[in-house]
Amino acid sequence: MTTTAITAPRTAATFQDDPNWWRQASVYQIYPRSFSDSNGDGIGDLNGITAKVPYLTELGVDAVWLSPFYPSALADGGYDVDDYRNVDPKLGTLEDFDAMAGALHAAGIKLIVDIVPNHSSDRHEWFREALAAPKGSAARDRYIFRDGLGENGELPPSDWNSVFGGPVWERITEPDGTPGQWYMHIFAKEQPDLNWDNQEVRDDFLTTLRFWSDRGVDGFRIDVAHALTKNLEGTLPSQADLDARGEALFLAGEHPYWDRNEVHGIYAEWRKVFNEYNPPRTAVAEAWVHVDRRARYASPEGLGQAFNFDLLQADFDAAQFRRTVTKNLAEAEASGASSTWVFSNHDVVRHATRYGLPATGSSAEGEIMAGQAGKRWLLEGGRQEDVNIELGLRRARAASLLMFALPGSAYLYQGEELGLQEVGVEIPDSERQDPSFFRNRGVEIGRDGCRVPLPWNTGGSSFGFGPGGSHLPQPEWFAGASVEAQEQRADSTLSLYRRALSLRWELQSAETLEWLETGREDVLAFRRPNGWTSVTNFGTEPFALPAGRLLVASSAVDGGELPGAATAWLQA
Ligand code: GLC
Ligand code: CA
Repeated sequence: MTTTAITAPRTAATFQDDPNWWRQASVYQIYPRSFSDSNGDGIGDLNGITAKVPYLTELGVDAVWLSPFYPSALADGGYDVDDYRNVDPKLGTLEDFDAMAGALHAAGIKLIVDIVPNHSSDRHEWFREALAAPKGSAARDRYIFRDGLGENGELPPSDWNSVFGGPVWERITEPDGTPGQWYMHIFAKEQPDLNWDNQEVRDDFLTTLRFWSDRGVDGFRIDVAHALTKNLEGTLPSQADLDARGEALFLAGEHPYWDRNEVHGIYAEWRKVFNEYNPPRTAVAEAWVHVDRRARYASPEGLGQAFNFDLLQADFDAAQFRRTVTKNLAEAEASGASSTWVFSNHDVVRHATRYGLPATGSSAEGEIMAGQAGKRWLLEGGRQEDVNIELGLRRARAASLLMFALPGSAYLYQGEELGLQEVGVEIPDSERQDPSFFRNRGVEIGRDGCRVPLPWNTGGSSFGFGPGGSHLPQPEWFAGASVEAQEQRADSTLSLYRRALSLRWELQSAETLEWLETGREDVLAFRRPNGWTSVTNFGTEPFALPAGRLLVASSAVDGGELPGAATAWLQA
């Protein structure tokens, strides 16, 4: 393929040493226990990832982000960490980790790992010490313990709700067998929140960051980066009080535990550690905060980049997409970061399914739209026959191709390159794993449907995931969606992703974008430097493409006409 010269061509060599490699990287999220199982125990593992490095190379991603692989009871899919500086024996060993990192690096692929600093697991040695130690001890001070209210401390310190349903406080039994203090857990009760006012906690995470950086990790994804610091002084406000104060509370940074201003002091310390390395280690914040407060997390003195979930939350709608892209590019520029784009991850209903559900109507900015549609579908039974699968997939392909043309980093989630649909009804309640299902019965089905092990082959044991079955049931329709099935078809989603990612690698240069006039409200077009042009038809009427050489399209372009729910790239 030939293109006109681009201003800053990337080569494998410059990419490896470039301190800015992350700014426009395509990052592939691996959920380790569901990616590839090397030893047949039904759980994906690190050796399984190593074995698939050629697949990742061929896909053309620049980096891999690994969800937690640390020792864990899997009360929350690994986001309950027993030991931050080790590998879960179910997934491998530190030597396997080194081999995997080595294989990725040899292939020119960077490695990002997940850091979970807000909470440990309740099996972490610190938490066990805290339970064995008396009230007021140094061991308890690493977590957030409080006396209960009521005559005998039998009531929780506040009536706050946890994210997965149920209260944020859990009562313990004191070492002498009496009912005792309460500890805070924003998520599941197996995930006690750490006390970030405690110096030992702070220092220990710096040790962890150095531990993985020394092992060659290139960057970190910071889990719930906005929850670490808390203000639990005095009488705690009620949940109703917090709800009533709504947005103003968040904008002021005065919520007792979400997005408090002091949290950035922690990341300033982390930045110093990142900068001890060459190239500096990178970080991306998972921070579900008010849009106006996101830039703080992305500052170069802090984590450097923050996820924006705005496109993920938007409907498949030209106006929403345009507004979201414009706003985030401006915001990223103002903070010195590059923008981030994401449609799917391990926490949300896959976008091929969300886009196949009845429209949710136009949104006020920041409202969860398509995301809600997916949750609703799960609650209503999660039946494939209620999804317009063909439309969902067309739109997902169009949206992803648009994303790959945007300035900034594109984060993709394992399986989206196969156009995978969410697995719904095929997972019986008895096999569900996600704590949000158990803690929030009837309100949430949970996130297992996007965490089903990948189908690599059209048949065989667990569709090639591994030689011994799969820890979540895979539906029959995985056969047709498998890598093997798609590799043979030029029009498959896998082929589209491969082509798009390789073109993106070649074409990506300055982080600028210019919107083009299309004369249609439902058609968005923009140009990147050197004539790289992306056109998306969000409507149903075909759109006559402007002049230029067609590079790739998410659906067949006939006679220069871009059909509905499709994106095309042109070299103009
Ligand atoms: C983040 C993770 C999610 C996890 C939660 C608690 O939101 O993405 O999977 O359940 O944090 O760690
Ligand atoms: Ca395994």
